[in-house]
Amino acid sequence: MKINTADFVKSCTNLKDAPSGKPEYAFIGRSNVGKSSLINMLLGRNSLAKISSKPGKTQLINYFIINEEWHIVDLPGYGYAKTSKKNRELFSDMIKHYIFESENLMTLFILIDSRIPPQESDLDFIYNMGANGIPIVLVFTKIDKISKNKVASTVAALKRKLSENWEDFPPIFLTSTIDKTGQKEILDFIQETNELYIP
Ligand code: GTP
Ligand code: MG
Repeated sequence: MKINTADFVKSCTNLKDAPSGKPEYAFIGRSNVGKSSLINMLLGRNSLAKISSKPGKTQLINYFIINEEWHIVDLPGYGYAKTSKKNRELFSDMIKHYIFESENLMTLFILIDSRIPPQESDLDFIYNMGANGIPIVLVFTKIDKISKNKVASTVAALKRKLSENWEDFPPIFLTSTIDKTGQKEILDFIQETNELYIP
């Protein structure tokens, strides 16, 4: 898929304020996993995903419109360690509400750092999504930072964990923003999935 236009639309805290009527793809993961970088890499833009970021403070649902046809949704991270318990609950209520109620969500991309073994917060989140029938794909980030063997063993470790509860795995993509690994694969996936959208 060729990216002709990619623009920030708005940030909101509530679905009722969200732009509607187009297929959307949401990106989530622990803080620093590489969400903003991946969104920029996919779209071939340098700093689009930073437009709305207010680090450590406001946590919003950020919408971007691509080719006037589909939305990317940049979600706040889960498993924040640095905020108060009350804030953490607020974030996760907002995320939960978005994920479970959005009528246009086609796929939730869950980002995982390829350099570290499966984290409890990632596994909890993945299982929770699966149990609720949310269509997910897993994206391993920053694969340029480690050897191919290490990437393979992180992926295998996660699959081993998931296979304790699941027979099938969600689609898996490997990515690097340095050499654009995974860009074509993810954009092709989105293009195919767009065709399944029923307005
Ligand atoms: P928050 O918005 O703070 O939750 O972080 P984020 O998930 O949006 O991560 P961000 O894109 O800001 O990336 C975090 C750091 O990882 C930055 O220093 C990026 O340059 C770096 N990074 C992200 N992706 C890659 C990658 O594929 N390769 C390498 N080498 N570095 C990456
Ligand atoms: Mg970010």
